[in-house]
Amino acid sequence: MADILERIPNPFWRSTQAAVMGASATGILAAGLLGLAKIDDGLLHRLTLYGSLVGAGAGAVFGLVGVKPRLPETRVQPQASTTWQDWRNFVVERKVPESQEITSFYLKPLDGGALPGFVPGQFLTIRLPIPGQPRPVIRTYSLSDYADDPAHYRLSIKREGPPKDRDVPPGVASHFMHDQVQAGSIIEAKPPAGKFVLDVLSPRPAVLISNGVGITPMISMAKAVSQRNPARPLWFLHGARDGSYHAFRDEVGAIAAQTPSLKVHYCYSRPRPDDASHYHSTGYVDAELIQTLLPVAPADADYFLCGSPSFMDSLRSGLMALGVPPQQIRFESFAKAAPTAKAAVDPAAVNSAAVDPIGAAATAEVVFAKSGKTATWTPADGTLLEFAEDQGLEPDYSCRAGICLTCMCRLESGEVAYEEPPTGTPEPGSVLICVSKPQTAQVVLDL
Ligand SMILES: Cc1cc2nc3c(=O)[nH]c(=O)nc-3n(C[C@H](O)[C@H](O)[C@H](O)COP(=O)(O)OP(=O)(O)OC[C@H]3O[C@@H](n4cnc5c(N)ncnc54)[C@H](O)[C@@H]3O)c2cc1C
Ligand code: FES
Repeated sequence: MADILERIPNPFWRSTQAAVMGASATGILAAGLLGLAKIDDGLLHRLTLYGSLVGAGAGAVFGLVGVKPRLPETRVQPQASTTWQDWRNFVVERKVPESQEITSFYLKPLDGGALPGFVPGQFLTIRLPIPGQPRPVIRTYSLSDYADDPAHYRLSIKREGPPKDRDVPPGVASHFMHDQVQAGSIIEAKPPAGKFVLDVLSPRPAVLISNGVGITPMISMAKAVSQRNPARPLWFLHGARDGSYHAFRDEVGAIAAQTPSLKVHYCYSRPRPDDASHYHSTGYVDAELIQTLLPVAPADADYFLCGSPSFMDSLRSGLMALGVPPQQIRFESFAKAAPTAKAAVDPAAVNSAAVDPIGAAATAEVVFAKSGKTATWTPADGTLLEFAEDQGLEPDYSCRAGICLTCMCRLESGEVAYEEPPTGTPEPGSVLICVSKPQTAQVVLDL
């Protein structure tokens, strides 16, 4: 009885049901007992009626105060989370080939929660448990899609082969993503970050210039402008070897079809015969081409460059030669191993008292506080990350170029000098060891 009553949430209805049950039970009981006592029928009916009334009253009170209704059963809903701090699990929803080398991965949070929006141009840092690697591999990939309120994050990853003429293994993370990661795989990711971003609502003409896989942040930027500021003059210039290496052609075509202010130009360096209608010029995107395409003075536009280092170097100098102020030229390099001080150091200068051009010390004692190691650094040891690795430490890293903050480390004492101002801004009291060297005679790192 109690079990039935517990399922009735409305107290009035529960009390009524309990009264009916009480009346019936006491009525039947009283009739049975009094029947055995062989009293006359009139008295039997009256006593049975009184018994039922007492039972109904007791039942009503019991139903009202004596029964705790059970809470309705609820399905556990996934927590909606708008942001997260550290690593979060994502499930690969689908995998879509975009070109001969590039494949897109659509990611959704495994916890079913919400995804924070991001600024077009930002990236995601992911962590992959790759078999055979001594520890999880961390890499950084630009978000290649855009929505104000994203339903997924999309990464578009190029399969990174070994450099020409080098007998070295191919790219670890990109091969793992292409070959092992499938729909349903789980990947850890940090929240979107990065400063290579477009101010979407600015009215200034903007020129997005990329080659190869450098197209990924540009798609996000072009989509954001198309959705939120469609009147803004925008150029999308992209260089590819040929049509088979050209990713997102249809997607960019669809954006341009909805955005009359967006002008697209494709430049193929080695077009195939069947690429004929898919590109606008042959060769490479350079400052001269930009000047011919833009109806405004080059200095009146903002430029966003992403591609191979040589492509960006020549474009930056070409644009500056056209009078574009450097602060109007934003760029992001995907290449991990920018030449480091370790590679560039002049052996003759090692251990000499010569002043390092970036203000690094001639020699320094580096204390790795957590590991309990102390060692003497000289310019030949390169960055603090390289030095730490040479000492057998395994700090996390991804870009090794001062962009992603993966190598950020607390500086307990001393000072460091940066090879050049890093793109990423470390937290106060922390440094990016992938692009810094000791500046003081002693440096203590929380490593
Ligand atoms: C901000 C940012 C955004 C990025 N966005 C994208 C993106 O959208 N899409 C994308 O595809 N990439 C992007 N990248 C690049 C990406 O982070 C990885 O660097 C890239 O995928 C290569 O990683 P990997 O693990 O496959 O290669 P790695 O294993 O890191 O190897 C890199 C290269 O070094 C070669 N190599 C291996 N061993 C040696 C050796 N001993 N000596 C010399 N060379 C060697 C490999 O063959 C390979 O060519 C981005 C990078 C940054 C910093
Ligand atoms: S490894 Fe990316 S900032 Fe140092």
